[in-house]
Amino acid sequence: MTPATEPPVASAPGGGLSPRPFHPHSNHRPPRSGPPPQRSPARPEGPIPPSRLRLLAAVFPVLLGCQTPTPAATTPSAAPPAPAAATPSNASPTTKRDEPNTLHGIYSEAQAARGAEVFDRICSECHEAADWTDPAFLERWEEASVFRLWHWVYERMPHGNPGTLAREQVTDALAYIFQLNGLPAGPAELASDDDSIDDYWIIWSPNDAPILR
Ligand code: HEC
Repeated sequence: MTPATEPPVASAPGGGLSPRPFHPHSNHRPPRSGPPPQRSPARPEGPIPPSRLRLLAAVFPVLLGCQTPTPAATTPSAAPPAPAAATPSNASPTTKRDEPNTLHGIYSEAQAARGAEVFDRICSECHEAADWTDPAFLERWEEASVFRLWHWVYERMPHGNPGTLAREQVTDALAYIFQLNGLPAGPAELASDDDSIDDYWIIWSPNDAPILR
């Protein structure tokens, strides 16, 4: 197990790890902006289209007998009604919850099972599974990108011996972390290339109030 030379670094049970403040990766791509804001809905259909109304206004006096062209009639009586104000109704600001994220089944069960093996073989030397359901951990990574967490682990773990994990081991370990937190598995594995892991935000719970930014 641990070479005697290195003092056990972490995981005082209960005490947990005290990772340094989060360092954003410089190579993280800027978050994509969400889909363009919705245009106001198509003009609501009024009961009578203005063109139609104008026609009615022209015909109406005729139908009434048309004897008295009163001065009042000179006022433009049939100004088309202003279209009902197009309310922005349900146009809510875009959040990371609206974009592809960890609530969407982005890893597979088989992948999480492999991640559990990685955990048992490598990570459990210093970590307990509970490290990754700890509220402080969750809060630290809430709404970060999967890309960020992935690179954090890839470049720094195992502590004291970084650079020894295969890309797939990191991805599988993340799948295990997602599973531990009850995030849904899906039909497809999360691939280990940068483009794939950069597709998703980390959202731990469908119930949290969204953090708008
Ligand atoms: C030799 C001990 C050791 C091993 C093995 C190890 N870690 Fe760590 N890990 C640490 C320490 C210490 C920290 C906190 C220090 C830091 O921030 O660098 C940490 C922090 C982390 C964090 C960030 C936690 C947070 O609260 O933000 C993650 C995620 C993580 N490790 C994942 C892994 C995974 C996955 C493995 C196995 C592939 C692993 N670690 C193996 C010691 C280890």
